[in-house]
Amino acid sequence: MRSRIAGTGSYVPAKVLTNADLERMVATSDEWIVERTGIRERHVAGPGEACSDLAVKAAERALAAAGISAADLDLILLATCTGDYPLPATACVIQHRLGATKAAACDLSAACCGFVYALSVADAYVKTGMRHVLIIGSEVMSGITDWTDRNTCILFGDGAGAAVISASENDRGILSTQLRSDGTLCDLIEVPGGGSRMPPSEKMVAERMQYIKMKGNETFKVAVRTLEDIARETLAASGLSVEDLDLYVPHQANIRILKAVASRLGLPPEKVMLNLDRYGNTSAASIPIALDEALRQGRIKEGSLVMLGSFGAGLTWASALIRW
Ligand code: UT7
Repeated sequence: MRSRIAGTGSYVPAKVLTNADLERMVATSDEWIVERTGIRERHVAGPGEACSDLAVKAAERALAAAGISAADLDLILLATCTGDYPLPATACVIQHRLGATKAAACDLSAACCGFVYALSVADAYVKTGMRHVLIIGSEVMSGITDWTDRNTCILFGDGAGAAVISASENDRGILSTQLRSDGTLCDLIEVPGGGSRMPPSEKMVAERMQYIKMKGNETFKVAVRTLEDIARETLAASGLSVEDLDLYVPHQANIRILKAVASRLGLPPEKVMLNLDRYGNTSAASIPIALDEALRQGRIKEGSLVMLGSFGAGLTWASALIRW
């Protein structure tokens, strides 16, 4: 028995922050950002707009695309590192607002890999009897971004993407998922303050420890290596090759990372889904937003072989192979 993606949806906040806007905030230039990252603009949440607000809109669209109602859901998994509160789980806020009265709900913390990790969990539950699982990647990265740090503030954006995972009636669907982690690299990307290691305090805020710190250059190299390795392992495990792929939907971190991975794999540019120029890096939301756009643009058809690939803080990396 297989599970499949029965419907997808996405939502980004209305406000757009361009590279020209960033030029007025830190010592950077549109030219530098485009050349080094491929990003031209990103969406940012407005005042009072939280993770669940974006997630609910993406989820409603995914439910409509799947043709089911919230009351049909057995489980809601929210992948995020920017939930509404430390407690309770933001997935419970979403469960209430959708009216998913029968669904269990919890958050999943795997940074940029959260959506693929959630897909893997949903796949396992559907294979063992659940009917419909809603998975969401939703992030308000603008809230943990240090807008005075040009090394990081140019990269991130806000948004949400969602998918309904249901039982497949044929042999198509999620063929396999691979999940990896390496905690020896946990200091590559981190938010040092605000947890039990460094609880909120005036000192913590004064030292700006509530914001993302990143070793960009080291992360870049590990990203290329892990994305390439896991793509090869994923295809080999299914007895497939790069030529069999119709579309690769990677985590939208940096165009240079994705071009390097595509070139090492021998993947032509038209088989790589890219939309980071308009959204930046939306962490756990990046793959479901890209997947939703690819579907709506007709780049994925019945029978298409699609591979997802992600990496992020932790370090985590993950992949999924899907026959549509
Ligand atoms: O979801 C996973 C999240 N993380 C990632 O995917 C990040 C992966 N890493 C990257 O995307 C890249 O490393 C960055 C885009 C963050 C940086 O690009 P880079 O080519 O690795 O630049 P760099 O860090 O080696 O810095 C090169 C220079 C430095 O100046 P000096 O020391 O050579 O004088 C930086 O200070 O560029 C400078 N720089 C900037 N200049 C203009 C750094 N940020 C900026 C900026 N504007 N925004």
